[in-house]
Amino acid sequence: MDSSKPAEAVKNVVKTASGKIADALTPDVPGAPGSAPPPLEEPTTPHDPLPPKSEQGAPQTRTPTGAETGAPTIANGQQGAYLTTANGARLRDTDHSLKAGPRGPVLLQDHHLREKITHFDHERIPERVVHARGAGAHGVFTAYGTAEAVTRAGFLKKGRETDVFVRFSTVLGSRGSADTVRDTRGFATKFYTDEGTFDLVGNNIPVFFIQDAIKFPDIIHAGKPHPDREIPQAQSAHDTFWDFVSLHTEAQHHTIWNMSDRGIPRSYRTMEGFGVHTFRLVNEAGETVLAKFHWKPKLGVHSLTWEEAQLIGGIDPDFHRRDLYDAIEAGAYPEWELGIQVFPDTPEETFAGIDLLDPTKIVPEELAEVQPIGRLVLNRTPTNFFAETEQVAFHLGHLPPGIDVTNDPLLQGRLFSYVDTQLTRLGGPNFTQIPINRPHAAVNDMLRDGFHQHAVHAGVAPYRPNSLDGGNPFPAGDAEHAFVDVPVTVAQAPKVRANPASFDDHYSQVRLFWLSMSPVEKEHIIRAYTFELGKCYHQTIKERQLQSLANIDPVLCEQVATGLGLPAPQPTVPLPDVTPSPALSQVGREWPSDGRMVGIVVDPDGDLEGVDEVRRAVFSAGMVPLLIAPHGGMVGDLPVQRTFATGRSVEFDAVLLAGAPAPAPDALPARDAKAGTPAPATVDPRVLLLVEESWRHAKAIGAWGAGVTVLEQAGVAGTPGVVAAGSGAEALTAVQQLMAAHRVWERFPAAVA
Ligand code: HEM
Repeated sequence: MDSSKPAEAVKNVVKTASGKIADALTPDVPGAPGSAPPPLEEPTTPHDPLPPKSEQGAPQTRTPTGAETGAPTIANGQQGAYLTTANGARLRDTDHSLKAGPRGPVLLQDHHLREKITHFDHERIPERVVHARGAGAHGVFTAYGTAEAVTRAGFLKKGRETDVFVRFSTVLGSRGSADTVRDTRGFATKFYTDEGTFDLVGNNIPVFFIQDAIKFPDIIHAGKPHPDREIPQAQSAHDTFWDFVSLHTEAQHHTIWNMSDRGIPRSYRTMEGFGVHTFRLVNEAGETVLAKFHWKPKLGVHSLTWEEAQLIGGIDPDFHRRDLYDAIEAGAYPEWELGIQVFPDTPEETFAGIDLLDPTKIVPEELAEVQPIGRLVLNRTPTNFFAETEQVAFHLGHLPPGIDVTNDPLLQGRLFSYVDTQLTRLGGPNFTQIPINRPHAAVNDMLRDGFHQHAVHAGVAPYRPNSLDGGNPFPAGDAEHAFVDVPVTVAQAPKVRANPASFDDHYSQVRLFWLSMSPVEKEHIIRAYTFELGKCYHQTIKERQLQSLANIDPVLCEQVATGLGLPAPQPTVPLPDVTPSPALSQVGREWPSDGRMVGIVVDPDGDLEGVDEVRRAVFSAGMVPLLIAPHGGMVGDLPVQRTFATGRSVEFDAVLLAGAPAPAPDALPARDAKAGTPAPATVDPRVLLLVEESWRHAKAIGAWGAGVTVLEQAGVAGTPGVVAAGSGAEALTAVQQLMAAHRVWERFPAAVA
């Protein structure tokens, strides 16, 4: 966590606590809009636009051809104090159309009206055909220099810092769909290197549904809503998805990852990322290796529970987006290490018997270590979501010298698809000139004209060779950091529509994944398959998928079959003897609790001094405390962030009970549905619900003083991960220790081994 920020926030609270409530609430809650608290009256004295919020970043002010302009990034946005037309003429009135008399018809000559409405009419652009729902942030990548031996890429040289923009996304849902659906997450990174932009367009799952890009429309059509009713939105729990993956069994590996907890991440901050494909790296000497890219989150890999994910889908559909931006605003900058698995570049392109061109296969980390090569820190939110997150355009062909593609047939098709779709999505061929896409390297391309051309190209000879422009542009060589198309030998072969035989193994790595899971993770996988298949209408599809599960593992198959009320089939392939990969499990390690959310339930009549001390301690420990009280505003000198009506357990990673607040005046089912929970009269029913849910979701719960009686009333006292402490400090210490493992898994002993 940025050490200055939490302390500053505490200071703000303390400073403003004695002032007006409106001022006191604003600086303390990440997410408050605007860079200054709004006055009550409409401001009428002209002044320049307010600056962006301190955590907001923007694309650098580069020309469309990559030159630094020196203008501050604020020059990307609106200028001056006065309202103008798009052409800069100042306007007197934007509230009334120009009419023939106050009661007369509107005049066609009203150019301001027409400009305003016409532009509005064209504000929407097509959403991405996949990965439409996403959120982006700016950051910086710092190289360790450990990749210098295998790649000549300049941005990977020791100490080199490179600006980046990262966009996280879901795959299936529309732009307005919920963040927490069960799905793969995109993890796309644009490195603005001085040798040209490098896009690492990966996912949070290291394998893909298909081995050949020609199947991409098929898997996406199967996963998207049914074409007749256009339901369900952003889900795989429906017949067409399971129809496809049960018939096209190379999809089974990716599918089990989606059914595991990886399909419902707690946060973008707690996701791994994978380049999926094998890339070819080339060093200064022209030597090559094959490599896979991995992002490792500083906070470890953590997931939601399925019930949390479903609740959040309704309560806060923007959960991941909000979490990303709030964390950056709180100074808890999301962080990852970039790592590579390196393999010898042999003619077979295999490693330990694994075909490196097959994107449905991983190489277990135990066989090839992930070597850290740099660190990514996301430290600025976008200033304008559309301009940056929506208009960013990634492409696997954006490669710097030192990184090249392989013949993975999925990768090869992707090299065509992204630019092709962006031509339509971004309205023409010049989208590289949109500010977020502008390279930070000199551009001299001979591409000309087209819709929305921003560059003012000089000269008369955009062709080569030429003499009229003095021969410019000139081809570059190694000394000038030219891109290297590695001269790989292509074996003589007939032209066929076929896969290599090594692509035929669809089950051994699925079994490897299953056997690498801890018992609780296996339970979650069983539940996910049972839920998803249980939502299908057709028995045949369920039976067909059960056959695939039988080919993965008999326990998995039997458990799911029992839930579906169907017989478990026998395997049709021999079950291979695979070695599990412990690195695939999320459970069993400890992680920092930076930027985690701690809810503190406050009783206005309770120990407020103790509460103040604990919230300061939570800040100092690098986490974000949120006070939950019966009403908004202030409790004593402390600003309230959530009320019993607005708060819900799913927002918090842990809960502290500083008191046993009596039912508030709005604890009525007619005012707050959550108050419908039957409750003993002494504690507000919404507090009991908060504790019950936190317990069910295996979260750490701590209480001191009167708070201990809440544990008793909720019936959770004395159970694992529930701490009744003598003081707030003691409760926090114990809870923070529990949070290192993310959840209190022993609350739910698994039935499978
Ligand atoms: C390893 C497999 C794949 C991975 C990891 C992957 C990852 C991604 C990611 C992260 C995005 C979102 C980019 C953003 O945030 O703007 C994306 C978008 C997209 N992907 Fe893929 N994808 C894969 C396979 C494919 C294949 C096989 C195709 C087509 C043949 C494809 C076509 C697209 C398209 C058309 C978009 C939308 C791009 C845009 O509108 O800007 N993807 N993919």
